Amino acid sequence: MDIIRALKEAGEAPISGEDLGEKLGISRTMVWKYIKALEENGYVIESSPGAGYVLVSPPDKLYPAEISIGLDTSIIGNDIHYFETVDSTNDVAKKMGIRAEEGTIVVAEVQENGRGRKGDPWISPKGGIWLSVILKPSILPAHAPRLTLMAGVAVANAMRQFGVDASIKWPNDVVIGKKKICGILTEMDAEADHIGFVVIGIGINANVPVEELPEELREGSMSLSSIKGERINRAEFVQALLKSLETEYLRFKVDGSTKILEDWISLSNTIGRQVDVITPHKIISGKATGINPDGALIVENDEGVHEVIAGRCIYK
Ligand code: BTN
Repeated sequence: MDIIRALKEAGEAPISGEDLGEKLGISRTMVWKYIKALEENGYVIESSPGAGYVLVSPPDKLYPAEISIGLDTSIIGNDIHYFETVDSTNDVAKKMGIRAEEGTIVVAEVQENGRGRKGDPWISPKGGIWLSVILKPSILPAHAPRLTLMAGVAVANAMRQFGVDASIKWPNDVVIGKKKICGILTEMDAEADHIGFVVIGIGINANVPVEELPEELREGSMSLSSIKGERINRAEFVQALLKSLETEYLRFKVDGSTKILEDWISLSNTIGRQVDVITPHKIISGKATGINPDGALIVENDEGVHEVIAGRCIYK
């Protein structure tokens, strides 16, 4: 990590093996070995005899160094666990949960058993951003859904910073128009009145061309690269996302969820629409007029005002 930081700090100016060694307190031979190892991991490094090394380009990987160098947060992302392939980053995070420091991140290039809400599979090929964040808030377990709303706001804001016009569709999908670009799965370890930890799993179709998704998902999905017409720098996006999450989380800890709810409503493209909400028992049709602090959708129709805790929302 330190050698990558030193190369990045030097920019386009070559830095000699001797200077690198001095900076890091290691021999020139060790510097050379580290450089070789970085090259094996996909870093392109130019080395000119006599002048030194220049980092030409980092690999398109979410290595901890790529996320943490330049990351402007104080809690989220202090500890980053990286995997090329994993079953599910949420499962790894849940195993680490109690021992992990608050803000620990688990990130993977590919998930072989990614999980969505309601036990659905979550397709997680190379090019996406599949990550889980461990939080340890002092709130009642019943209030944990507020953290899911918070994550939706953080993701939508990070995308808007990247020039993508993201909105939130109830219950908590980040969408471009009607097409889903990100899903959030919050899980927790809790007793009746105490949360051990919360895992917020965030799955973003980043550099995943929509046409490469399974056929049944193409119609309703979008990705950052498809909407922008070019691949995005995933590491930079993750940095913006972690910063956005931390801003919302610190606000949540100090002020509670009022501002988050306001932001959620203004980022949402559900509120104000005529919707059908399909619940296990019935379909509720009417106008979506708001959400309550725990994320239930408020739907108004001739029969009255309904608070729908869970369901599938269809825009009319
Ligand atoms: C949804 O159904 O909308 C939620 C999808 C959540 C997917 C993310 S990807 C990272 C984390 N690991 C998982 O297995 N799921 C979540």
